[in-house]
Amino acid sequence: MLPPIQYRVFESPDSACVQVAAEIAQLIRERATLGRSAVLGLATGKTTRPLYQELVYLHREEGLSFQNVVTFNLDEYLGLRDTDPRSMRFFMQREFFDHVDIPAANIHFLSGVADACVAARCAGYEKEIVQAGGIDYQILGIGRNGHIGFNEPGTPISSRTRKVDLHEMTRTDAISAFGEIENVPTQAVTMGCGTILKARKIALLAWGSKKNRIVRRAVEGPVSPKTCASYLQTHPAARIYLDVPASLILDQKSHGR
Ligand code: F6R
Repeated sequence: MLPPIQYRVFESPDSACVQVAAEIAQLIRERATLGRSAVLGLATGKTTRPLYQELVYLHREEGLSFQNVVTFNLDEYLGLRDTDPRSMRFFMQREFFDHVDIPAANIHFLSGVADACVAARCAGYEKEIVQAGGIDYQILGIGRNGHIGFNEPGTPISSRTRKVDLHEMTRTDAISAFGEIENVPTQAVTMGCGTILKARKIALLAWGSKKNRIVRRAVEGPVSPKTCASYLQTHPAARIYLDVPASLILDQKSHGR
């Protein structure tokens, strides 16, 4: 039997993000001392906003430098240019990259260009991750359908970076950014579950009562393609960071640490 996945419950998203940002800062500083880079896997979405705010705070107020940081973002909508305000690339510039000293050449992103070269670019992304030495610390959110990245229900554990069709729930949840469901892209490119699980350390963040059912399935349910986040149970260094509402229906006695 798999050991239960570790999770921690914080009084607010902000306090959870102070903890995750401190772990990231420690990794960056340790690597800087050794003259090496720290490779981060990054997610977009509402969940990650307080994390980027905290990392920007550490840069501004505590002198944390991102000069030795290399990043790979998880996913991008297909059909959006990176200058489109609704793209994930734009989100990252606005929320994080524009406010820290990360060299532009260290930022890696899947292209949203929908042409015949998508598969080749996805394969290239996998190679770039390997050439960078692999991802040290992967940040994840979770979709209400259990997706990580855009690995929708039914995705095998060994999946790699590729083009995907977006699930109806994912598209519905994106309406606020796109105005109407018709405007929400139907496809995306995403790192695969197998790609994500190669990271040395993983933090999945979830806030609010809207996420508590899916968090329970990910943490306490069977490891299953029905809930891709449940694959984290197979990872030796994956941890879940929750606020109180997101944790409320977990069986705290059997799994809390
Ligand atoms: C975003 C990503 C997605 C989101 C998830 C949660 O890069 O990979 O898996 O993390 O959809 O989104 P929010 O945080 O907006 O609830």
